[in-house]
Amino acid sequence: MAQSTVQEPHLAFDADRAAEAAGQTGATPYERYARLDVLHTLQQPRSEVDAELSFIITTQVMELLFDLLRHDWTLAARALRADDPEGARGALRRAALTQDVLNGSWDLLATLTPTEFSAFRPVLGEASGFQSSAYLRLEFMLGNKSGRLLAMYADAPRVRQELTEALHGATLYDEVLGLLARRGLLAAAPAPAPERYRAQDAVREAWRTVYTEPAHADLFALGEALLDTAERVTRWRQRHYASVKRTMGEKPGTGGSSGLAWLKAAAEQDVFPELWTVRGEL
Ligand code: HEM
Repeated sequence: MAQSTVQEPHLAFDADRAAEAAGQTGATPYERYARLDVLHTLQQPRSEVDAELSFIITTQVMELLFDLLRHDWTLAARALRADDPEGARGALRRAALTQDVLNGSWDLLATLTPTEFSAFRPVLGEASGFQSSAYLRLEFMLGNKSGRLLAMYADAPRVRQELTEALHGATLYDEVLGLLARRGLLAAAPAPAPERYRAQDAVREAWRTVYTEPAHADLFALGEALLDTAERVTRWRQRHYASVKRTMGEKPGTGGSSGLAWLKAAAEQDVFPELWTVRGEL
């Protein structure tokens, strides 16, 4: 029975190891630099199902890559603010390679069978990737803001504060539109708003000009880099959807959503919408 496999973490907290980590003793310079002493204590399956380890490690790898993406998208936003679309493209290119690794990470779960997943699923309780603040932070950067979701972090004031600032701050796409405005392609830069970005005709028109007038070659290249980003975001959502379909079919999610139907709707939402719709006019 799946329930009988639920246990306390079998890699219990190791006081000696933690003291060693804190004191930075007994480790090679490499271990100290990469904090491997701490890192390797963090994989703690809660069941005896072998497959749970790959689930935990995949989750942790993806969380780290979310942080790296945030770092490079922040650099891209900063370059845009400084009227440096080429610098932004460099940061987006690095980020796109990170996105490729992120998307490829789904392969780590490809062998997870529905019986294995069902056997350790009870240990997740109500835990769901839906509660990932690092992922939500990325969604906000892309313009998919939702203040309603901050209620999840009522007991995590630091996270909540950071997300509240992001909710009210400029997104990566706001910075792009600011640049288009300074180039005279939009009447005004849109003010940051604490809600999901909605496609605008004036923005689609601005991209049409960028894609048809040779004078805007640098912005054309930026548009393509943004689309590379957007397509990879969609690919992550589609691979997530496929993994969920394979491992648990149409069961409801641990985070309380309908599961597959909810994930499908998310995968169908385009990031940077006018960059997609303008293609039908070119
Ligand atoms: C096969 C394993 C997995 C299953 C069955 C699964 C299932 C689900 C489901 C059903 C949801 C919808 C919310 C809910 O009701 O829980 C969800 C959301 C989410 N999951 Fe997973 N998940 C899996 C692996 C992962 C991994 C490895 C990550 C990496 C961090 C992840 C991150 C997320 C995120 C970020 C969301 C929110 C998506 C959004 O807001 O659009 N999931 N997951």
